[in-house]
Parts: sequence; structure tokens; C-alpha cells
Amino acid sequence: MQDSPTLSVFFGTRPQVVKASRLLDALRKRWSVLAVDTGQHYDYRLHGTLYDQLGIAPPDAFLEVGSGAHAEQTAAILTRAAALLADHRPAAAIVIGDTNSTTGAALAAVKLRIPVVHVEAGLRSTDALMPEEINRRLVDAVAGLLCAPSAAAFDVLQRERTDAVIVNTGDIARDVLVHNIARASSLAGHPDWPADVGDRFAFSTIHRAELTGNPAALQGVLSALGALEFPVVLAAHPRTQQVLREHDIRVPSSVHVVPPLGYLEAVAAVQSATVVITDSGGLQREAYWLGIPCVTLRAETEWHETVALGANHLVAPETASESLAPAVAAALSNRGWDRDAYGNGHAAERIVAAIGEWLERPTR
Ligand code: UD1
Repeated sequence: MQDSPTLSVFFGTRPQVVKASRLLDALRKRWSVLAVDTGQHYDYRLHGTLYDQLGIAPPDAFLEVGSGAHAEQTAAILTRAAALLADHRPAAAIVIGDTNSTTGAALAAVKLRIPVVHVEAGLRSTDALMPEEINRRLVDAVAGLLCAPSAAAFDVLQRERTDAVIVNTGDIARDVLVHNIARASSLAGHPDWPADVGDRFAFSTIHRAELTGNPAALQGVLSALGALEFPVVLAAHPRTQQVLREHDIRVPSSVHVVPPLGYLEAVAAVQSATVVITDSGGLQREAYWLGIPCVTLRAETEWHETVALGANHLVAPETASESLAPAVAAALSNRGWDRDAYGNGHAAERIVAAIGEWLERPTR
């Protein structure tokens, strides 16, 4: 089938590399694929380790955009993706999620009249100015095929778009979890784990601009984490580590800051944690699928179902000193919920089927 149309797939941040692992495998069974890593994330611990763990082949193209202000980074992705797309003219460009890599690649493609497929389409939070929300709305406005991870996301897209094909495929992140859970579960110990963390602990991650850009709120969250009844393991994104250092933020002794974990170690950490406390969209769902209570350090989430089902409790970071402990207590009181709000782990097959039908349409 290698002479069938070529599809390009763009990814560049940690969660996109994770999702690309299953998507690339499924797409390559049917089409030739140009895998493009934008290079938005480049630290080995944030990025390279995922290629190794998830068995992803080196990308066909690497745009090496690195970090920068949003405009700068998005513009670099757009320009470099456009040059590559103009050379290769794939039948479609597939973008994933809601990062600057998603927007840069999607805009580059549509401006060359290359149709766009958006995987993880239709998610909405109420904060219209959050960088990821801007990216979601922009990409959903220009894509021709929208693959929604849930029924609610599908409904949003049906209200917004009358001229696109919309399919509820389920969430590809669940496919990745299902595929790797046995390996994650069998991990014996964590190389970076502090020795005095026992059976009861909170696994935490913090990386979003809303928190890392607000040192006072970050200090409040760390103090509230330190006041919990059990120790906390905080796997810190490079930017979070930088803010902790530069703003002299006091880290309580029961909060153990460790470097970002690989995918398998992160899943193993969620599985063995008493509670997950995070601002990551990925961990909110992984906790939900694994049956581990979650507290999200945000005033809102685009993963509404996790909250409605009682698996996830929101804490606005500015209120953490009063509301974190009660939210953790509430989270711990509920351990059973329906786990199928985002499909059943077969999203990759559904995305491939949707793309196949869509490519055959006379007008796209
Ligand atoms: C990006 C996504 C976010 C996603 C997250 C996953 C956008 C707008 N945000 O956020 O939605 O949840 O990825 O992790 O695209 N840095 C490093 N090493 C790296 C990458 C980044 O040190 O490999 C530092 C740099 O100081 C950089 C900062 O982190 O400026 C922010 O990186 P960036 O890629 O802009 O956004 P993320 O916060 O990682």
C-alpha cells in the first residue's frame, strides 16, 4: 500500500508524542506516512525517553523549533511546516491536541489547501484566552475532518461546524494506555523515587502557564501540598523547576520534587498513588481510566466528564490553601465510576476508518 496517498502527521510536545505512538502504527498499516516532529519539546526526559519507551521510529522530518514566545514559536512551526508541506504535498495533514504545534501545522496546511484532520477535536474549557483553548478553537475552525474523543466534544463540533466531517472516535490516549498498561504495571520501583515515600502518597505534576507564570499561586499550591496528610511526589516540568529556583519558592519537606517521568513510570506512579494532583490534561484521564481519584489544579477543565462522574475535583490554584485538603478528601471518598466516557481504547482504528472514508469523498 506504500504507493497510496501520503499523510503527514505532526507532533512535537510530550503528550503528542505519546498519542502519535498508536496513531502512527495504525495509519502506516494503510497509508504511507510522513511523520513530522516539530521539536517544540526537546529535553530528553520530556521527549526522547518517550520515543524509546513507546517504540516510535525516528521522525521523517524534524523541524527543530524549540522554545520561544508563543508568537515566535507558532510562527516558526508554521513557516517550517509550510516549507515541508509544499515539498511533499501530502493528501492530508493530521494534527493532534491543542498545542502551538497543532496550530502552526494546521495553519500551514490549510494555507496550502492541504486538508487538515484534527485528532482530539471539540474540547472546550470556559477560559477562552488560555493558550490551549485558543489553539483548539482555531484548529477546529479550519480542519476538514474532526475526530472527537467524546460524545460531548462531538456535540460541540456539530453546533460549530456545518461544513466539516465530524466523528466521535474516542480518545487515542486510552489506546496508548491499554497498549502499555502491562509494561507500566510491571515496573519495579522508580529510579528517581525518594526513599521515604511509602504506600500512601500523592502523585503530582504542574506545568501550565497559568500556574508557572504566577509564583504566588505556585507557592500557595506547594504549601497546600505540604499540608496534606501524606507525602507528595511532584514530577516537575523543566519550566516549573526553573520557576521554583528563580522565585525562591519554598518547597515543604514532604513534597519531593523529581524530574519529569517517562510515560511508563508516570502510568506506574498514577496506578500506585493514593490521589493524583495535577494541571495536566493527560493525567486527569489516566487517573480516571485507572480508577485513581484526581484533583485538578485549575478552575475549569475541558475533560468535563471526569468531573461529572466524580472522578475529578477542581481546585482553582489561588484557593489551594483552603480548598486543596477538602478536595482531596472528597476525591478519596469516591473510587468507582464509569470509565468509558472517552471510548474503549479503539480510537486509532476509528480514526483510520474515518480518514479512509473522508479521503474518498469528492469534496473535502
Ligand atoms: C506545551 C503545551 C501544553 C501541553 C504541554 C505538555 C502549548 C501552548 N502548550 O506546554 O498544552 O500540555 O506542552 O507538556 O503548546 N522547556 C524546556 N524543555 C523542553 C520544552 C520546554 O526546558 O523540552 C521549557 C522552556 O523554558 C519553555 C517552556 O518550558 O519556554 C515552555 O515550553 P512550551 O513548549 O512553550 O510549552 P509547555 O509548557 O511545555
